[in-house]
Amino acid sequence: MEVIILPTAKQVACYGADVCESLIKTKPAAVLGLATGSTPLALYKELIKYYQQQHISFSQITTFNLDEYVGVSASHSQSYHYYMKTQLFDFIDIDPGNTHIPHGDAVDVQQEAIRYEQLIHEKGGIDLQLLGIGRNGHIGFNEPTSSLNSITRVKALTNATKADNQRFFGLGEYQPTHAITMGIKTIMQARQVLLLATGTNKAQAVKAMIEGPVCAMCPASCLQLHQYATIVLDQQAASELIMQDYYQFAKQACDTLFTQSGEGCTKSYG
Ligand code: PGA
Repeated sequence: MEVIILPTAKQVACYGADVCESLIKTKPAAVLGLATGSTPLALYKELIKYYQQQHISFSQITTFNLDEYVGVSASHSQSYHYYMKTQLFDFIDIDPGNTHIPHGDAVDVQQEAIRYEQLIHEKGGIDLQLLGIGRNGHIGFNEPTSSLNSITRVKALTNATKADNQRFFGLGEYQPTHAITMGIKTIMQARQVLLLATGTNKAQAVKAMIEGPVCAMCPASCLQLHQYATIVLDQQAASELIMQDYYQFAKQACDTLFTQSGEGCTKSYG
């Protein structure tokens, strides 16, 4: 696990965007796993900028989103279909046919989850999976106690998650109770994972993910078992970590090596 602590949320977004940019430059037909929520918004803005400055093209890129609410149509302003369209897809040269998000309004949502999981495999798997983390340690909508071996399926949302998302739905409006989400195994099969977290409200979950035991009560802790997981934090999200000094030292040592050897550093320490 690589832990990067940066002074500000803006730098976290830029770091994440740079990781995406490098992948797209080296593999123009990469498969990206995308996340929604407030955390990746700034990263998507950076990617749009890189596209507009002609640093990267998404014309051959395929994307798979982590999740979608059950019972919410693609045109609903709180659907993750709508989010992706309005926050990223409408502003880049991606082929809409290459963007995939589970259909939360499918007649048979269980079958939709199976189809989605199969499609990820048919497209060769995910090269880089972007993640946020919930205050309860969830990744995607894999709530605490999710099987660490789960694949894409329908999950019931916890009260904590529903409360966190309540602000997005109008008073009296239907608020989803379930979601179709990639499973933890699905996420773990991505060849590279990049989790971003910012703000003090994530500090406890971040501590449990990085320095706690691997356990289903903190689904994000499964990333301790991933061979190529990078966690990028601002100082607030990192504030509860007891080994902050070590992470900073390891990063500096790595950057020095990188400068001296001219080789990429992200894989050089675990
Ligand atoms: P947030 O959500 O980015 O809106 O904080 C992250 C998550 O719940 O995974």
